[in-house]
Amino acid sequence: MTHNTKPPVHDTIFAQPLETPAPFEFNAQVADVFENMIQRSVPGYHFLLDVIGLLAARYGQPHSHCYDLGCSLGTMTLRLRQNLPALAHVIGVDNSAAMVSRCLHNMGRDHSQASYEIRHQNLQDTAIENASMVILNFTLQFIADIERPSILKNIAEGMRPGGVLLLAEKVCFDDPQQQDLQVDLYHDFKRYQGYSDLEIAQKRAALENVLVPNTLEQHRQRLLDAGFSRVETCMQCFNFCALLAFK
Ligand SMILES: C[S@@+](CC[C@H](N)C(=O)[O-])C[C@H]1O[C@@H](n2cnc3c(N)ncnc32)[C@H](O)[C@@H]1O
Repeated sequence: MTHNTKPPVHDTIFAQPLETPAPFEFNAQVADVFENMIQRSVPGYHFLLDVIGLLAARYGQPHSHCYDLGCSLGTMTLRLRQNLPALAHVIGVDNSAAMVSRCLHNMGRDHSQASYEIRHQNLQDTAIENASMVILNFTLQFIADIERPSILKNIAEGMRPGGVLLLAEKVCFDDPQQQDLQVDLYHDFKRYQGYSDLEIAQKRAALENVLVPNTLEQHRQRLLDAGFSRVETCMQCFNFCALLAFK
């Protein structure tokens, strides 16, 4: 949760019938409801928030950089900062102006010791240097498949020995039965979170060709090819997974 005293605004973006849902964008309308949207749409999100804190305390190194690439409202960025040693420096990056302005507001209310900056830029243009920790939490999936290997290579090259990347993604499965089951279970989760069948269908249509998932095996192999020495699964909730990649 961000440091907001008010409850997050309820996400009803796809509640009314739309003629053709436009491709999903991280615009101001989404940024306004994003805290509620991500908590109700990503099983395991709260667990990952705790994981970020644990990883920051364990792997965050003084005099190093810690990146949150695709930081949105800064929910993970804050948890990262709050658990790092004082002399670490946090760099949050997002290419949505609506997200960056809200993130700056949320970060400004925190007074942890680690310094920080929030950059409005494409993470493809972010130089990764002297990094002990990098977070890619449900962000790589929004970037063209062809660009993904070079992004991971850039991250691996900029990491200190012993550094860790947390890569969380929606994934797909090669086995059609497994794919159908995991997606059905995920949709049950969304209904349980109060989303209607119409909301689920319209959001799915809006995300078509915008969020393009890979399989876990593709992610693992790509991380090894990028230069990480070891890859561990740290979370799987239906078709949402997180991997830890060690330099
Ligand atoms: C699903 S959200 C990430 C959620 C966030 N990491 C969290 O845990 O709360 C994806 C974010 O990535 C950002 N994004 C997508 N493509 C990007 C790119 N090429 N460079 C920087 N940010 C990007 C979007 O604007 C959006 O805020």
